[in-house]
This record gives sequence, C-alpha cells and structure tokens, in this order.
Amino acid sequence: MFSPILKNNKPTESFDMVEITQSFKIEVEAIDADHRRLVEIINEITDAIDDGRAEECVALVPNFVEFSQQHFEREEALLTKHAYPLAEKHRQHHVGLTDKMKTIQALSERAAHSQPAADALRKELVFILMDDVINEDLAFKSFLVKAEAEGGAG
Ligand SMILES: [Fe+2]
Ligand SMILES: [Fe+2]
Repeated sequence: MFSPILKNNKPTESFDMVEITQSFKIEVEAIDADHRRLVEIINEITDAIDDGRAEECVALVPNFVEFSQQHFEREEALLTKHAYPLAEKHRQHHVGLTDKMKTIQALSERAAHSQPAADALRKELVFILMDDVINEDLAFKSFLVKAEAEGGAG
C-alpha cells in the first residue's frame, strides 16, 4: 500500500525515504507546497531515527504537529472558500488526524530509548501522510482544480 510514494534513496538501509509522486499531487500549489513540507519534516524525523539520533524526535515532532495543524486550516479555508460540498466531512477527517497527533507525540518522547517506539513513530507518520494526502485529499482534487481555475485569480 505504501509503495507508490516510497522511494528508496538508500538501498543499504532498511527503510525508505518518503516522496510524493506525480499521481498524488493535488495540482493546487498552496496545498502541494504544504504536502511537500510535511514530507520534508517526516524525512528529517526518519533520518534522525536511522542515524541513531532518535533523541531529536522530541524536538522535531512538534514541528510536524504544528505544521500539520496549519496545513489543515489552510486546506479547510480553501474548501470553504469554494463551497466544496463535503468540506465539513473533510474537516471531521482532519479532527480525527489531530487526535492521532497525540499518539505521535507520546511516541516521540519514548523514541530515544525504545526502538519499537521509534519504529511505531515512523509508521504513524507515514500513515498520517497517506491518510491525509492519498485517501482523503485526492477526493477533492478535481473539484478544487476546477474551482481554482474558474475563480482562483480573484
Ligand atoms: Fe486534508
Ligand atoms: Fe492535505
């Protein structure tokens, strides 16, 4: 399931870097830029885990949580602006992800001393990215691309 956005930059290591490929772009630059930044932060965290610097997770994970929250707000504002019919449903989806951030923060505090916690942290981060970007955001892609093309300049 994860293979479409995983790219193996380091064949000698057991885990892959995450990258958003063309088919998972929303084609709305503000959203794609946010998603790229989320991927960057996730890769910073997984690099720290891989390089034996898992103690850095406790400082890096709040960056992810904070930026995710800002991203959800920007995305919701854009959906509301264009009167996306399922905007409220998507907002509820984000609320669910925000709950998962608590799990992620708890894991980040244990990651330095627990390899299972570090591994679980990596899995949860990739899962949240997949859940937001692929399973849910793609649902509004065509609507939003069309709405932005028609009225986005204003
Ligand atoms: Fe979303
Ligand atoms: Fe998103």
